[in-house]
Amino acid sequence: MKTMALGNSKVVNLLFTPAGVLMGSKLRKWLMNPETTLCAAEVQSGQRVLEVGCGTGFFTLPAAQMVGDRGCVVALDVTSGFLKVVARKVQAAGLQNVHILRRDALATGLDSASLDKVLLFGVIPFPLLPLSKLLPEMHRVLRSGATLSVWLFPPLVHNWVPKAIAQSGLFHQTKAHRNVYNFVRLPRKAHDHG
Ligand SMILES: C[S@@+](CC[C@H](N)C(=O)[O-])C[C@H]1O[C@@H](n2cnc3c(N)ncnc32)[C@H](O)[C@@H]1O
Repeated sequence: MKTMALGNSKVVNLLFTPAGVLMGSKLRKWLMNPETTLCAAEVQSGQRVLEVGCGTGFFTLPAAQMVGDRGCVVALDVTSGFLKVVARKVQAAGLQNVHILRRDALATGLDSASLDKVLLFGVIPFPLLPLSKLLPEMHRVLRSGATLSVWLFPPLVHNWVPKAIAQSGLFHQTKAHRNVYNFVRLPRKAHDHG
């Protein structure tokens, strides 16, 4: 089954419901402050941010508050049930700068060079998000000099994920702080003007 159909499947949404509850739980908020993690990713006022795999919006709302009215957050996920939860939270918070998008992150359909930052928070590794396909798409949608931030969970993947991103040749690692690895988008080589 294709990723988009999978994300709309009743069975998948039912199976994912407990994970969604955990992702948005008070216990998680007590264990980790989303604002602190977003600060480690250097999310700033005015940025246009793409959040890949936003789930039930644990990071979405604080990110939208941090970028403010001059910026925006594109909250992208493939799972329809999760996005309904995000939509309810965004409406309840009265936020106008969140764009909720049900898309496969490997083919976002977003304009090239239209974003300042991509957040890959808690989504790597994930079977439907192979870095070999995800990174070129993230490179495409980011403008020149824009950044990619990856929050890794669990710690077991800390060794290979940052290395694999650097080895792609598309991003260069800058700072790492509080399990967040920051990268800057590199220009493509020679014939490519991106
Ligand atoms: C472990 S959850 C993390 C959710 C959120 N980032 C958090 O930390 O609370 C992974 C999310 O990635 C989404 N996802 C997986 N593959 C995807 C794809 N190819 N395109 C878009 N979203 C995807 C899933 O639906 C799920 O919501």
